[in-house]
Amino acid sequence: LAKVEVELGNIPEGKNVIIKWRGKPVFIRHRTQAEIEEARREDWKSFRDPESDESRAKKPEWLVMLGVCTHLGCVPIGEAGDYGGWFCPCHGSHYDISGRARKGPAPLNLEIPAYEFNEAEGKLVI
Ligand code: FES
Repeated sequence: LAKVEVELGNIPEGKNVIIKWRGKPVFIRHRTQAEIEEARREDWKSFRDPESDESRAKKPEWLVMLGVCTHLGCVPIGEAGDYGGWFCPCHGSHYDISGRARKGPAPLNLEIPAYEFNEAEGKLVI
């Protein structure tokens, strides 16, 4: 299947972009240092879908996730919700700055697709 390449130099710190991959939205966030610290400070073992931020982001500054709510598949809104991450307006699920489900009906964290970095070209390959 076709891969998608994303030029990371075009995404400023503190910004989200949404690309299309295999017909689905993929969220890419260039996280700030404060956001990384917040994501890593949380007591994730108590979450409904316990995952550390370290296990979700290969590079702390880049968060790459499918933009598909794990409840019933709506597309969550960025920079929204009670946890500084994403909010799904369909039934009110809140995701944190690591894309982890924190409140509302979503049972699981936003899914992380397989991806890699092409360091030489400054690209993300999904
Ligand atoms: Fe997102 Fe239901 S589809 S909360």
